[in-house]
Amino acid sequence: MEPVSVAVLGCGNRGQYYASYSKLHPEQLRIAGCADSSEIKRKKMSGEYTLPENAVFISAEELLSQPRFADAVFICTQDREHVEHAVAALEKGYHLLLEKPVSPSVSECKRLTEVARRYKKEVVVCHVLRYAPFYQTLKQLIDSGELGEIVHINSSEHIGYWHFSHSFVRGNWRNSNESSPLILAKCCHDIDTLLWLAGKPCRTVSSQGGLYWFNEKNAPDGSAKRCLDGCKVKDSCVYDVEKLYSIGFCGEGSFLLSALTQDITEKGIKDALAVSPYGRCVYYCDNNVADHQQVTIETEGGATIGFSVCAFSQECYRSIHIMGTKGEAVGSVNKNKLELIRYGREPETICLDAEESGSGHGGGDMLMIKHFIDLVRGKGGGSPALLEQSLTSHYVAFAAEESRQKGGIPIRLSD
Ligand SMILES: NC(=O)c1ccc[n+]([C@@H]2O[C@H](COP(=O)([O-])OP(=O)(O)OC[C@H]3O[C@@H](n4cnc5c(N)ncnc54)[C@H](O)[C@@H]3O)[C@@H](O)[C@H]2O)c1
Repeated sequence: MEPVSVAVLGCGNRGQYYASYSKLHPEQLRIAGCADSSEIKRKKMSGEYTLPENAVFISAEELLSQPRFADAVFICTQDREHVEHAVAALEKGYHLLLEKPVSPSVSECKRLTEVARRYKKEVVVCHVLRYAPFYQTLKQLIDSGELGEIVHINSSEHIGYWHFSHSFVRGNWRNSNESSPLILAKCCHDIDTLLWLAGKPCRTVSSQGGLYWFNEKNAPDGSAKRCLDGCKVKDSCVYDVEKLYSIGFCGEGSFLLSALTQDITEKGIKDALAVSPYGRCVYYCDNNVADHQQVTIETEGGATIGFSVCAFSQECYRSIHIMGTKGEAVGSVNKNKLELIRYGREPETICLDAEESGSGHGGGDMLMIKHFIDLVRGKGGGSPALLEQSLTSHYVAFAAEESRQKGGIPIRLSD
């Protein structure tokens, strides 16, 4: 069987990572073309996947104006561009792997649903957690009835102070007017996974939280607007860019460094920090997204889900505690194991396959690509129901954000 051929739209962190699946499994996936506005990234992709000149484009729009030359596209451009690119790609006859969030606008989400229904192509939204062995195992436990009826799920996303400052204070997702609110940008796949685990639709949602720390009033005396411009408190500040963006701290392959510069040398990093938005002091940025948020979901039937997301942790990880009428399951996705407790019996530790869980998002990233390839090859048929299911998490996130902005009032999803 021929490998599925794909053109990558947006060759940043996600685009390059998903494309790398073809190096592990050339019999399943072939990169046939790409588009990116950055010349360095286009050159990198052309070199790594031996792309002909006529399959490399300076924009997604230009690639999509050509006759179709691959089976599918990976849409890995920025949040507000996804729907335009997705609609144009469907019209050309491509299957879509579409980065989340689909869009920060309800009407755009609905528009895509309608177009997807018309063209009947596979559309997989990158809700990667669903595919991770950790969450798949939890889903099997719930479906087997071992835990009884699920009454409450408590889950937290600990972003990590270094990740939060990079992406949500200095970086692409810092300002909801340019990208999306935190609860959509970072957590639509948490909400997707939690609703999928609960197995019941959301009835009401309420939410509280806000931007607590990263603003001018918390700037220490002696700080400067950019870390390299004479900041006097560099040594004691954990957000100092010379610490965070050092190869020693994050490692050469880190997404922090690749977002900052394509020249990962000490000089390249220092030059970039002198001019890039990533060189700014965290207390003097144009950020407005929440740094902590709590969401309560009530499902049809009265079960509840509590979800929290917070900037302030050392590590970046997700934890979950599922409470049922017969038992509970507890774990953290980065630990490769979970604890199953059947009431009145000894707890059981379930260890997950370390290799399968080893890629990004507890193994979900690469397993999602495999799932997508299977769908394109006609094994399974997900569309359009899969897109509509994925978008439910977006509608819940929009309602959560509305509730947060209105001081925590409950929002009925039917409204
Ligand atoms: N599924 C997940 O877990 C997950 C994780 C991180 C990010 N994301 C999402 O993935 C998307 C990409 O994130 P990223 O971290 O790779 O960002 P990135 O900035 O590293 O990559 C985006 C790339 O798109 C290119 N681009 C933008 N507009 C373009 C256009 N019109 N034509 C061609 N190229 C264009 C940029 O030059 C850049 O290289 C975002 O929507 C983000 O929210 C998803």
